[in-house]
Amino acid sequence: MHPDVAEVLITSDELQARIQQLADEISVHYAGKEPLLLAVLKGSVVFLADLMRALSVPHAIDFMATSSYGAATESSGVVRILKDLDEPIEGRDVLLVEDIIDSGNTLGYLRNLLLARNPASLHIVTLLSKPSRREVDVPVDWVGFEIPDKFVIGYGLDYNERYRDLPYIGVLKQDMYA
Ligand code: PRP
Repeated sequence: MHPDVAEVLITSDELQARIQQLADEISVHYAGKEPLLLAVLKGSVVFLADLMRALSVPHAIDFMATSSYGAATESSGVVRILKDLDEPIEGRDVLLVEDIIDSGNTLGYLRNLLLARNPASLHIVTLLSKPSRREVDVPVDWVGFEIPDKFVIGYGLDYNERYRDLPYIGVLKQDMYA
């Protein structure tokens, strides 16, 4: 275990097993279709990489990068688009892939933005969800794990851009950020 990690919340094996379950359900849902997996940078890239290889339906991928306008406006759900999609999504079956839903502000904003572009359908999968932190109620179709309100890192999630490479979801030691 990494010395900055207080505890492992979800092991690598548990992640892989759950992602295969999610992929099986998602593959059934999209049978006969060719969805566009839309990942929100950067945290979701590791989840996307494993999820897409576990899917049995053909699919394309694309990326968006967002940034919150800062603490003062976070609760208003204002999100800045740093990188938009490469292609239009009108008429496409879009699956939004997130690593974690915390307040729900990012997802709530993105969902409205994407729906305004008239996709054939829009569904959401998130690896992690912190229900106790939710401010904006966003309908999520698949949730990997509901987790308590702890500072989690690893498997794509960072603290100051570190720890994204850890193969498990860990809780960061408090003295690393206090
Ligand atoms: C995280 C995560 C979501 C958002 C969730 O991204 O990937 O996009 O925060 O928080 P919310 O539900 O409160 O809006 P982050 O801003 O940490 O960027 P990163 O993925 O590049 O690390």
